[in-house]
Amino acid sequence: MFKWKENLSCNIEEIDGQHQNLLKLGQELYDLLKLGNDVDKYDDIMKVLSKLADYTVYHFGYEEELLAKHRYPLLESHKKQHQSFVTKIDETLKQDIDSKQSSITMEMIMFIADWIEKHILGSDHQYASFLNQKGIH
Ligand SMILES: [Fe+2]
Ligand SMILES: [Fe+2]
Repeated sequence: MFKWKENLSCNIEEIDGQHQNLLKLGQELYDLLKLGNDVDKYDDIMKVLSKLADYTVYHFGYEEELLAKHRYPLLESHKKQHQSFVTKIDETLKQDIDSKQSSITMEMIMFIADWIEKHILGSDHQYASFLNQKGIH
């Protein structure tokens, strides 16, 4: 489900590597979902969600620094999109995850799928063509 495809590439090696890590976290959640409802997945879910929270802070910070360095004109609106993802993860972590293991896992899978579709293929690709034009790969 979360396989890397060439159309996801931003033509920037470091960014592609970071996006591949996001896909791996999506795949980890998908694997947990496949275990079914009879298994207690709480510890594993928390492990992936905390990795996801850390990843977002690191990846968004990296992108924002790169975009600021090259004076990307749409930086502010890009930052706002990042912030809304961070808020979503924070809100999820505040829920009673133990009693809603499968629904939360499903919700986060949909969240990452949506992130790939809207953010990486949309806004990230937009800054990528800006940076590619400046010779950044
Ligand atoms: Fe990104
Ligand atoms: Fe981004």
